[in-house]
Amino acid sequence: MTRLTIDGVAVEVPDGASVLDAARAMGLDIPALCKHGDFPPNTSCMCCLVKVDGAAAPVPSCATTVREGMRIESETEEIRALRRTGLELLLGDHAGDCKAPCENTCPARMDIPDMLRHVVEGDYRTALEVVKQDIAIPAILGRVCPEVCENACRRGQHDSPAAICKIKRFVADRDLASPTPYTPELAAPTGKRVAIVGGGPTGLTAAYHLAQRGHRCTIVEREPELGGRLRREFPPEELPRDVLAAEINAVLSVGVETRTATPIAASEQLDALAEEFDAVLLACGKNDKGWLAGVGVAAGGSGAKVDPATRRTSRERVFAAGNAVRSYKLVVQSVAEGKLGAECVDSFLTSRPLPDRRRAFESRLARMTAGELCDFCEGAPIAPRAETSALVGDVSDEVVQLEASRCLHCDCEALENCLLHHYAEQYDCDARRFAGPGQQYRGRLEGRGVQLEIGKCIACGICVQIAAATPDAGGLALWGRSTAIRVAPPEGVSLEAALGSSARRCAEACPTGAITVDAC
Ligand code: SF4
Ligand code: SF4
Ligand code: SF4
Ligand code: FES
Repeated sequence: MTRLTIDGVAVEVPDGASVLDAARAMGLDIPALCKHGDFPPNTSCMCCLVKVDGAAAPVPSCATTVREGMRIESETEEIRALRRTGLELLLGDHAGDCKAPCENTCPARMDIPDMLRHVVEGDYRTALEVVKQDIAIPAILGRVCPEVCENACRRGQHDSPAAICKIKRFVADRDLASPTPYTPELAAPTGKRVAIVGGGPTGLTAAYHLAQRGHRCTIVEREPELGGRLRREFPPEELPRDVLAAEINAVLSVGVETRTATPIAASEQLDALAEEFDAVLLACGKNDKGWLAGVGVAAGGSGAKVDPATRRTSRERVFAAGNAVRSYKLVVQSVAEGKLGAECVDSFLTSRPLPDRRRAFESRLARMTAGELCDFCEGAPIAPRAETSALVGDVSDEVVQLEASRCLHCDCEALENCLLHHYAEQYDCDARRFAGPGQQYRGRLEGRGVQLEIGKCIACGICVQIAAATPDAGGLALWGRSTAIRVAPPEGVSLEAALGSSARRCAEACPTGAITVDAC
């Protein structure tokens, strides 16, 4: 056994182990993107650097064998900065979208491609579950949203965008018309009670999400009926009142209580709510200074003054979201605000950390040329966008499924397992720092059940090693020069022949989403 110290902590590992092995034995998470299993180190990523006491320069930990008494520094500022640069160099030459452009543009961040995949399969219930994770009132939004996500739809650069909004409306309408409309699973009751002031889209959404987390919610609405701006801004021809009522009922069906015709206009009334409930969320459209002063909440630039991260107002246990904070023109923004307000209140009530929005790293493809776009569209049906009239009212399964199949699935399948994404987030990387032609789409190779998205390859060499060790695999090689090196089968060899029976193993070992295999 060999003894050494890493960051001052003693560790003992078998003779011949690498510094990376020793660090892992201690539970350190070093970004090692090109070393796999027992294969020899490729030292191509240079992200696993450490400092060895007495050495002139940092060394790759995967290729450095431990020595008795060695002293290693792994988590210093200098080493972290070098690793970050290494990751950013890889990202500067990495062409992939972690998330689809439509999802990034939707204010509610709905997982649009996932919804569309389920629609193509005719699994409308699962499609609706996907929608409802972010949008509590999809049948309403399917009628009042100006389809902002569709402006960013990549298919729109080719011919016309996928009819995302109408498809969402279709799955929501189908569900409302079904004998057993969807209700989400509710967490065990927490015993906490939340008053939500305002029964418009922000308040309804907040109640829907808070109730799912086990909190007992009461919507306090000044009007005799819930709906808020939905009733004021949209006439029945645009938003039929039966649809509005059905979706309000769907929210109430998760156990949300209401107190209608109950205006909150004075400080004592807010005091009483704060006394009765564990938290109060101001989700009303009111943001004028006079009203805020009346209820004893400090005003900011254009509404209630809040801590932007936690949505706490100047009053203890009183939060604010939506138009109570600033004016949001679109209903979908109010919906997004409702979910955010719910997360903030839930975090306060349960001490759960808030999702760290700052750390949501994303790689994005550079804008495509017409030729690249043609390549990207390969395999998708060439059908034109369905007429709107065919997507509302009595919609046929065939029409809606064909429309959903026009989606190009721009999101990355590997997002949950991608090591490059994982470390880019951990090291707070900037994907644009070394941005250049390397972020341009480079095409896709398809084999039976396996795909290689060339621009996502970081030339780690792992699949080359795995294929070389697989008797029935023809083998892969790294081609090109400098930063343009990418993996590919030899000339004239198909991807499936190159990978043979190693395809799944390569996909699992690939540190990015470059190699993917179809689900079994
Ligand atoms: S391979 Fe990783 S970093 Fe690249 S697009 Fe996919 S998830 Fe994002
Ligand atoms: S093609 Fe599909 S995944 Fe891509 S932006 Fe359009 S709807 Fe979203
Ligand atoms: S495709 Fe092969 S060489 Fe490229 S990143 Fe994946 S495993 Fe590494
Ligand atoms: S250089 Fe060590 S894992 Fe890549």
